[in-house]
Amino acid sequence: MSFDSMWASLEQVGRYPGSGGYRRYAWTREDATLREWFAGEAVARGLDLVEDRVGNQWAWWGDPDAAVEAGRPGIAVGSHLDSVPDGGAFDGALGVVSAFAVVDSLRAAGFVPSRPIAVVNFVDEEGARFGVGCCGSRLLTGVLDASRALSLTDGDGISMAEALVNAGRRPDQLGPDPEALRRVGTFVELHVEQGRGLVDVGRAVAVASSIWPHGRWRLDLEGEANHAGTTRLEDRRDPMLALARVITTARHSAHNHDCVATIGKVSVVPNSVNSIPSGVTAWLDARGPDEAEVRAVVAEVAVVGGGASEESWTTSTVFNPYLRDRLVTSLGGAPVLATAAGHDAGILTVAGIPAAMLFVRNPTGVSHSPAEYAERDDCLAGVDALTKVIADLSGSGLR
Ligand code: GLV
Ligand code: MN
Ligand code: MN
Repeated sequence: MSFDSMWASLEQVGRYPGSGGYRRYAWTREDATLREWFAGEAVARGLDLVEDRVGNQWAWWGDPDAAVEAGRPGIAVGSHLDSVPDGGAFDGALGVVSAFAVVDSLRAAGFVPSRPIAVVNFVDEEGARFGVGCCGSRLLTGVLDASRALSLTDGDGISMAEALVNAGRRPDQLGPDPEALRRVGTFVELHVEQGRGLVDVGRAVAVASSIWPHGRWRLDLEGEANHAGTTRLEDRRDPMLALARVITTARHSAHNHDCVATIGKVSVVPNSVNSIPSGVTAWLDARGPDEAEVRAVVAEVAVVGGGASEESWTTSTVFNPYLRDRLVTSLGGAPVLATAAGHDAGILTVAGIPAAMLFVRNPTGVSHSPAEYAERDDCLAGVDALTKVIADLSGSGLR
């Protein structure tokens, strides 16, 4: 049950041979294997495994309800096990494995927490299958309406409701779970850094300050299907030209507004080499330090075509400053970094739950790619840091 053996036991789950990356999508066979792995780790440690209404997994050390009664709710620590298409091994999994390793370290040191501690696996963090990121925490906190979530569809037209049934779950159970949330006084998520901030300062671990506002928008570009050879150029309604304009506008507009914008996913109908497409759907991801500027980028792209209907939005998120400073102090003065990546810790923050994050150095800064990486020594430094932080918080905590 060492860090190394846990890491090795996950290494092949959902690995896609074509890329060497991972395809771990919510409510698939791979996801079921990961959930079984999580349950096995919980049981092996004698932790109490509970699922909330959304399917997020919580493995409790100590009685969370007694702690709520006593007005001293628990400390949750963890992340997610799903991935983006062809994602790396570290995004999410490092946080969950490190959380179990923290329980082991605390126990090995004979530590007796005065608050219960939970290891958590948030479901569907990347939103790779149904399009909405941080689905597990958004549903849990009620930010995402269950009926809307259930009607979201994946690339094969399977709705989340159907996917839940196929995974042996009850869609009618899906919804906010205030009782599960009440148990969480504080949440700490450790994550591989998704930039080179720690490389720049020559440190292994940082504390997060904030998350940029960000969102996803869907653009539907209509065309007219026709023959690629026999249709004169002037007679064509080719949505690929509109897509090209959308992509270049997103780039220029992001540059002008000090934002970033990406078209990373398109669906071409019918996707035929010798046909003019009848339609293209493209998804825009836009982020930046300032909400109004991000909105301006989206508006400028929408003018080009496609409508830009919002599929998710995360407001500018500042992590609890008291908690942030407390982590920095616990770690003897760790660097503090902002991020442009979304996390469940951000969603919980917006819902009013004190949350914090630790980042572990990533030598290249590459993430959401098979090249995502962290050195073993840095991962172990992350576990040590997280152990210190959880030992401190599970002594007194925040609320
Ligand atoms: C999650 O990784 C996101 O930032 O989209
Ligand atoms: Mn991610
Ligand atoms: Mn992540």
